[in-house]
Amino acid sequence: MGYWQSSMIALARNRKVGTAMHHLAGGTALARRFVAIGDAAAAVVEARRLQARMGIGATLCALGEYVTDAAAVERTVEVSAEAARRLHAAGLEVRVSADPTAIGLLISEAICHRNAERIAEAVAGAGADPWTRLILDMEDLSTVEPTLRLHAGLLARGLPVGLTLQARLLRCEADLRPLLSRRTAVRLVKGAFPLGSAQDHQGRADIRRAYLGLARSMLSPEAHDAGLLPIFATHDELLVDAVTRMALGGGWRDGEFELEMLYGVRPAWQQQLRAAGRSVRAYLPFGMEWWPYAIRRVGEHPRNSLLLARALLERGYRSTT
Ligand code: FDA
Repeated sequence: MGYWQSSMIALARNRKVGTAMHHLAGGTALARRFVAIGDAAAAVVEARRLQARMGIGATLCALGEYVTDAAAVERTVEVSAEAARRLHAAGLEVRVSADPTAIGLLISEAICHRNAERIAEAVAGAGADPWTRLILDMEDLSTVEPTLRLHAGLLARGLPVGLTLQARLLRCEADLRPLLSRRTAVRLVKGAFPLGSAQDHQGRADIRRAYLGLARSMLSPEAHDAGLLPIFATHDELLVDAVTRMALGGGWRDGEFELEMLYGVRPAWQQQLRAAGRSVRAYLPFGMEWWPYAIRRVGEHPRNSLLLARALLERGYRSTT
């Protein structure tokens, strides 16, 4: 793992700094750049704005990951279900994401299943669109097996669920294979939790190669016939161009596959892609627990460290005044 990215992951996990930062949430440019600070209602206001101004759909995700406190888990489950209901009430597509460790995975897998079911039931009850979905995020390697089981369990119950797979992981191809014949949604990302060469592809070129190989499978005729929704979640132009060509050249229509990017990252390009006819979605996290999420964005893109420096200075300034 690169030194920069590993330092940022360590900073993301520093509870003391995180607690101090959460008190500054509303006033921090770093937070506002990547997150809708506030409750589910505030997130839906932003989702509506994205739809109205840019024609872009949103995936709402309640912040708060790696949580062991049962009350905090319960709040996340409730606001995630509320977000689904509010999206529907606002006349928007219902798409919600959840981190398994935000909804109880660290307490017990059974609790996490029950909570994911509650969110997925709220999503199912709120949305009539064929791609109304709860998409499970994928976290560090220790969560991969439980998240795959969670996804399979919800699918078996007929709930509208999808999941995220990380192309950098060597195991990704094997994890993807059984999903290609299912009517589900697979969001393919590069992966924000780099490991060593025993577990993942190393370096940009290899990760891109792996990503494109997986994308080819997700865009196969078999996947199309099964009713898979391939979601390509990346800001990498080379990948977006290649998967778009692959999809359109293979007979997939816009709407049958999606491009998804993080809220606040390359918004002008998101708009351009939408104007060119692509289905584009922004992943829009909301809540107050913004620190670990925003810091991972700095880890991915060192230029965001200017925003980080401002946030740290602001914290220092406020703690001395
Ligand atoms: P790459 O990092 O190579 O970036 C390509 C270009 O995009 C860069 O050159 C830069 O210009 C720009 N860019 C990228 N990130 C930026 C940033 N933060 N700020 C400004 N510019 C930036 N990961 C995971 O492990 N589990 C998950 O569940 C998810 N979920 C998820 C959902 C969605 C919708 C997206 C887009 C991403 C994720 N990720 C994720 C994160 C993902 O794994 C990956 O870390 C980031 O998307 C960065 O990788 P890129 O594919 O964008 O390529």
